[in-house]
Amino acid sequence: MTLRIRPAGREDAGSVLSLIRELADYEKLAHEVDATPAMIEAALCNANATTHCEIAEWNGELAGQALWFTNFSTFRGRSGLYLEDLYVRPAFRGRGIGKALLAHLARLCAERGWPRMEWVVLDWNQPAIDFYRSLGAEIAQDWRLCRLDGEALAALTAGG
Ligand SMILES: CC(C)(COP(=O)(O)OP(=O)(O)OC[C@H]1O[C@@H](n2cnc3c(N)ncnc32)[C@H](O)[C@@H]1OP(=O)(O)O)[C@@H](O)C(=O)NCCC(=O)NCCS
Repeated sequence: MTLRIRPAGREDAGSVLSLIRELADYEKLAHEVDATPAMIEAALCNANATTHCEIAEWNGELAGQALWFTNFSTFRGRSGLYLEDLYVRPAFRGRGIGKALLAHLARLCAERGWPRMEWVVLDWNQPAIDFYRSLGAEIAQDWRLCRLDGEALAALTAGG
């Protein structure tokens, strides 16, 4: 049994989007996905890309992925890693693949001198919360995600 973690390339855009859709489905948010393979390819595959995807293959089969981008902490004065998606396909769970993906990202942080990685988790996703806690992650109770999009974003644009 071999696990390989590698960066996604141009040829992976379609499968990256498939796993984005699988995760959205799991999170009951499939209706929010309007990304296309071309958008994913454009985001991941350009000389100045700040968005990246690490693909996990188990015996050569697509098993999961971690999609991330660079953020910046004003408090720490340094860049960091924001994990947008972590997903392991159902048939491959419980084999250490999720942990290996996060360990891979932790090593990227160490190599680059980034002091932290962050992400959000839905409050009902107890298996993922337990998984993150098992790795030592702190789950903040006092922060809320804020978002402006669609009509609210357009209205603010007009208002400005
Ligand atoms: C959450 C997820 C990424 C975990 O990946 P995985 O490959 O199944 O997890 P691993 O096999 O790497 O588990 C690593 C460790 O976490 C522990 N762990 C995994 N799931 C756990 C759970 N539900 N409760 C407690 N511990 C858990 C394992 O016991 C293991 O510990 P060990 O190293 O001491 O043996 C995967 O289950 C998944 O994709 N779930 C659906 C999508 C999702 O929720 N993504 C996260 C969105 S924020």
